[in-house]
Amino acid sequence: MEKHRSSPAQASATRSPGRRTYLMCRPAYYAVEYAINPWMDTTAPVDATLACAQWEELADVYTRLGHEVLRIEPEPGLPDMVYAANGAFVVDGIAYGASFRYPERRPEADAHEKWYRSAGWTVAKPEFINEGEGDFTYLPGRELILAGWGFRTDARAHAEAADVFGRQVVSLRLVDPRYYHLDTALAPLDDDRIAYYPEAFAPGSRLLLERLFPDAVIADAEDAAGFGLNFVSDGRNVVINAEATGMAAKLGDAGYEPVPVDLSELKKGGGSVKCCTAELRR
Ligand code: ARG
Repeated sequence: MEKHRSSPAQASATRSPGRRTYLMCRPAYYAVEYAINPWMDTTAPVDATLACAQWEELADVYTRLGHEVLRIEPEPGLPDMVYAANGAFVVDGIAYGASFRYPERRPEADAHEKWYRSAGWTVAKPEFINEGEGDFTYLPGRELILAGWGFRTDARAHAEAADVFGRQVVSLRLVDPRYYHLDTALAPLDDDRIAYYPEAFAPGSRLLLERLFPDAVIADAEDAAGFGLNFVSDGRNVVINAEATGMAAKLGDAGYEPVPVDLSELKKGGGSVKCCTAELRR
């Protein structure tokens, strides 16, 4: 392990933050009206005003870091639309559309498809159930798409994505219902390095991750429970849920700059920083 670690000073000197384009959806109609993951409790109060304020702060943080933030209009009756990462998976200027597992969220796919079309992106309509960037991510330095299955995305969508993008897809099976999307258990730190929580994955997938990413930052149960893996990194700055202090410290030790943002209200829906942020890769 030790030989893979570079000193923080060394690491940050070689990591320059790239300018990213993010798509976000203001939680104007946010609520916990149904429960489709273990974090959602329909009897617990949700402060929608606070959710909006926390979300605005997240958008401001991205802007201050020099990134471009685009917005998709929220729709009444779609309380989970704030989790914009689930609306599509975008690489090479192509938006591979979502097809949601649960009927409550299905109309979000159309809203996103319309947005991507009108913004001039090429849209690939999915045949199989998949929840966009919730279960897909891309590592440009390795030319690899990482994809999760087990709770939401149908594993057949992984092959479909390989076909859409002409890129290699690594399938990873999720086994802990609290970490039902890949982006709750794994996240890219830069072009070729990731952080992940091993216990969220089936044994074979863990082996695969160990082989592919011997230099990964490893999260523990507490890091994962604080949504410490649901972060957005630009290669240097890592925007992370404020509750995940232990994970932020680990990322600091690994040479990154943690930028904590409090998203306590959005955690009640089972999401955090990354869930609220779709990365649009040209
Ligand atoms: N309530 C939403 C659901 O269960 C949360 C989605 C979180 N999004 C994410 N990218 N993990 O579908």
